[in-house]
Amino acid sequence: MTSKALLAATALVALSLSLPATAAELTVGFSQIGSESGWRAAETSVSKTEATKRKVTLKIADAQQKQENQIKAIRSFIAQGVDAIFLAPVVSSGWDAVLKEAKEAKIPVVLLDRDIDPSGKELYLTAVTSDSVHEGAVAGEWLAKTVAGKACNVVELQGTVGASVATNRKKGFDSVVAKNANLKVVRSQTGDFTRAKGKEVMESFIKAEGGGKTICAVYAHNDDMMVGAIQAMKEAGLKPGKDILTVSIDAVPDIFKAIAAGEANATVELTPNMAGPALDAIMAFKAKGTVPPKWIQTESKLYTAADDPQKIYDSKKGLGY
Ligand code: AHR
Repeated sequence: MTSKALLAATALVALSLSLPATAAELTVGFSQIGSESGWRAAETSVSKTEATKRKVTLKIADAQQKQENQIKAIRSFIAQGVDAIFLAPVVSSGWDAVLKEAKEAKIPVVLLDRDIDPSGKELYLTAVTSDSVHEGAVAGEWLAKTVAGKACNVVELQGTVGASVATNRKKGFDSVVAKNANLKVVRSQTGDFTRAKGKEVMESFIKAEGGGKTICAVYAHNDDMMVGAIQAMKEAGLKPGKDILTVSIDAVPDIFKAIAAGEANATVELTPNMAGPALDAIMAFKAKGTVPPKWIQTESKLYTAADDPQKIYDSKKGLGY
């Protein structure tokens, strides 16, 4: 072991031993982004359930999409002396200073569902996220397979600018486009992960693309923007899912409703249960000093009309989406 690695290991053990060992004593502060999407609402709701199951006190601070509010919340959690901090970082950069403060206070940080820039790697214990580059690639592969070599102009609704998942979902999709000369992304703009923005941007895409006639498919970085885009297509007299193919990410109940109605075609699932694995990691770390892997990866599964969308809608609709 190098002296740097030894130092890091010693610091981790010191961190784990300086705090309570049983779940009943644990208090975790969660700096949540906000409630921009159905997926986000479900993540908040599932996090509360998972904490209750483990008898952990979870304090959630809603940042209303603002990084400055997240930084304030983290500082407040440090001042309160919580046992751990969960952070869903709205954007990937600008965390080093506040995460250094958490480290100095010996409070372990776990990233949930989004990543931060590599410069911050030593400042958090583990990250519970999907492989968001892979999610974009899964969406792209579905489209490439579905159009089977036919020329296809795609419009893209991106997530929040600067968010790791928006950068990565674009990168993954683009990697498939690069291998398939028949696929072309003709327009790409942020819809900020919201239904309202997704609808607004899709309306402008439709106008700019001959009333939608030159659009073959929409790729949205989340289902909420796609639900907004579906509405825009319908209002423009188009048949979403037929005239224009759709593929998006999250697997929220409303997209299954749209798939069941033939108005959407495919979605890639992102589990809203990031907190469960994060709480298990923190509890093992506190109780036994068990250092979790740096990345706890969640699954990304593709769903289409072949997967009984009505049944999936019924099974998901009570989960807080
Ligand atoms: O970080 C996960 C993303 O954030 C979800 O895909 C999106 O719906 C949410 O806003």
